[in-house]
Amino acid sequence: MSIRLTIYPDECDAFGHLNQASYLALFERARWELLARGPGMDVFAEAGVWPAVRRATIDYHAGAWPGDVLEFSTALAGRGRTSFTLRQEASRTRDGKLVAALETVFVCIDRQERPVEVPAAVLAALTAAPRRTTLPSGTTIAWEAAGHEGIPVLFVHGYPLDRSMWQNQLVGITGHRLIAPDLRGFGDSSEAAAPDAMEAHASDLVALLDALAIDRAVVVGLSMGGYVALAMAERHRDRLAGLVLMDTRAGADDADGRAGRDAAIATIREKGAGPVLGGLADKLFAESTAAGVREAVAQRMGRVAPATLVASLAAMRDRPDRRPVLAGLAGLPTLVIVGTEDRITPPAVAREMAAAVAGAELVEVEGAAHLPPLERPATVNEALQAFLDRLGRGV
Ligand code: MLT
Repeated sequence: MSIRLTIYPDECDAFGHLNQASYLALFERARWELLARGPGMDVFAEAGVWPAVRRATIDYHAGAWPGDVLEFSTALAGRGRTSFTLRQEASRTRDGKLVAALETVFVCIDRQERPVEVPAAVLAALTAAPRRTTLPSGTTIAWEAAGHEGIPVLFVHGYPLDRSMWQNQLVGITGHRLIAPDLRGFGDSSEAAAPDAMEAHASDLVALLDALAIDRAVVVGLSMGGYVALAMAERHRDRLAGLVLMDTRAGADDADGRAGRDAAIATIREKGAGPVLGGLADKLFAESTAAGVREAVAQRMGRVAPATLVASLAAMRDRPDRRPVLAGLAGLPTLVIVGTEDRITPPAVAREMAAAVAGAELVEVEGAAHLPPLERPATVNEALQAFLDRLGRGV
């Protein structure tokens, strides 16, 4: 979530620029806005807790002057049982330059000043707060970020999910600049209709990188997100610093697969999305996957507009065979991840992809099926963290 605030002369000092002490007040206002636009301050009162600031760490990167408009973003950067950390960034809208970043650790306390658990409603409000960027094409993409330094990492969700499937990664991976957008037509980018081609999603994401002044990013794509990542690898190879293909495939649909997409499209048009989503949900998870994860995924899927489901099924049906692209990726750091119980894109497919990219690594995640980031977040985070840290060190 982000808000824009204009800098006034009375916030500036003898040198004419925004004084260092004024930043804290502006960040505070941005946090207040976040709550005011979301659940309201009542969210704390209702749970009987106060958020007490335990520590605030601020980094100043550039200046701001009267009349400058700053964009303040606020995102959950970490959480414990009784504490949570918010990362806020202020950027100049005139050139996108990061001006200051603040990390604030809050401890939730009761009226007797004893630490108490962070209310679930507070976490929900903080994690559901996207930023929005309007691309030159006119499409607005909602996205969420965590971390500022290190390698930019773009997380591309699968079908029919949204950026929230990467929540465990945004909170758990450190030292890198993590960005999780909602693809056009999904999540909070759903004002626009989904496109019926993977290449259009790829163009959106390149335009988003442009808007964020990011030259190259590690692109992490799960399933349909992997199809999008491969379209980026084919058409915009120079924008990739690395590639993570998770529970996906490079090949096109075969005849049976295409017929299945057509049947699903017809069912959605005739009977609505229910039967198609129900059938998909049955195939997504490992036996041991927690009921809470299954329910959360079912809820997210249920929010997707039928028109987006239909357009995406057509896009997946018509996507080309990108296995030849893999051979051309030699030299691009590549990691392939798959759940050992994945029935939609099974481990054999992942092994083939990893073998086709010279130097690619393969991680098979036990106890996960098609959605390892949600089913086995700790294992996935460990693999991603190691991959990104190695890339950061240039090894
Ligand atoms: C996904 O998870 O994105 C889809 O299951 C991919 C597909 O149907 O090919």
